[in-house]
Amino acid sequence: MFSWFKSNKTPEPQEKTVKPVEHFDNPQAVLAKFTAITGIHFNHKEAITASKLIHFCRNHNLSSFEELDFRLGNDRHILEALINLLTVNETYFFRESRQIYFLTERVVRNHDNVRILCAPGSTGEEPYSIAMALLDAGVFPNRIDIVSLDINSDVSTIAKEGRYNARSLHKTPLSVQQKYFVQEEDFFKISDEVKRLVTFYTINIFDDRIFDLGRFDTIFSRNMLIYFDEATVVKAVERLGRLARSKDSILFFGHADFVNTPATLHEHYEDGTKFYSVG
Ligand SMILES: C[S@@+](CC[C@H](N)C(=O)[O-])C[C@H]1O[C@@H](n2cnc3c(N)ncnc32)[C@H](O)[C@@H]1O
Repeated sequence: MFSWFKSNKTPEPQEKTVKPVEHFDNPQAVLAKFTAITGIHFNHKEAITASKLIHFCRNHNLSSFEELDFRLGNDRHILEALINLLTVNETYFFRESRQIYFLTERVVRNHDNVRILCAPGSTGEEPYSIAMALLDAGVFPNRIDIVSLDINSDVSTIAKEGRYNARSLHKTPLSVQQKYFVQEEDFFKISDEVKRLVTFYTINIFDDRIFDLGRFDTIFSRNMLIYFDEATVVKAVERLGRLARSKDSILFFGHADFVNTPATLHEHYEDGTKFYSVG
């Protein structure tokens, strides 16, 4: 009875997924390689960074830091993904806006065309703020050329799309918001008029391809040097200085970017705004 329920087949052996044995002992070599490439140091944040690295390895089927170290040297997709994970991209429109308005007044006064570099520009709020401030002050669009670079490829994609949430706009004057953004449900889309003034590149400041970008009248490098050690700050500032068009070109840094002014910079102070020149 009920024998038809029984199967004569011998059961298939269950396929077992063999997990590789993991060894996540010492992230020092990986962190040192990452720092050598990007300039970014992990002082006091090594424990939290190590736990991010373990997650990263598991997501990419890497079973040890040694394997990650090896792949970082010969797989640019792994390097790109790690850079996108470990960089801090915090920014918002009209951050430290005194420098932006100082530049705007200078451009209006000088009547010259202006080429501006944002290094780094992150998700685009800074270069777009500069573009909007200049347009709002009556500077003709054909006088404005803004280049924005960042080592993180994800932020460049977001910047090119130009779609932001309300938090990014919390310091944006309402008149500017109404003029240069279109609201789409909970998001704010930057207008094409502003978008076309900025070109975005994914480049590491320590990559010599930065010298193919040409020379600039104004260079903004805000809130990147804080992640570097003192020797790396000096190196980065020297490279940025080589992108200045002339001794009249000006450079702006973030308030916390360095304690000691690097020797390649001359410090200026006008109308309550600090800026720098080279040469
Ligand atoms: C905190 S954000 C600052 C963005 C903007 N300048 C501001 O002040 O709001 C720092 C940015 O520096 C970028 N960055 C870090 N190291 C870099 C490097 N070696 N070359 C280019 N960009 C880098 C990061 O990807 C990040 O988007």
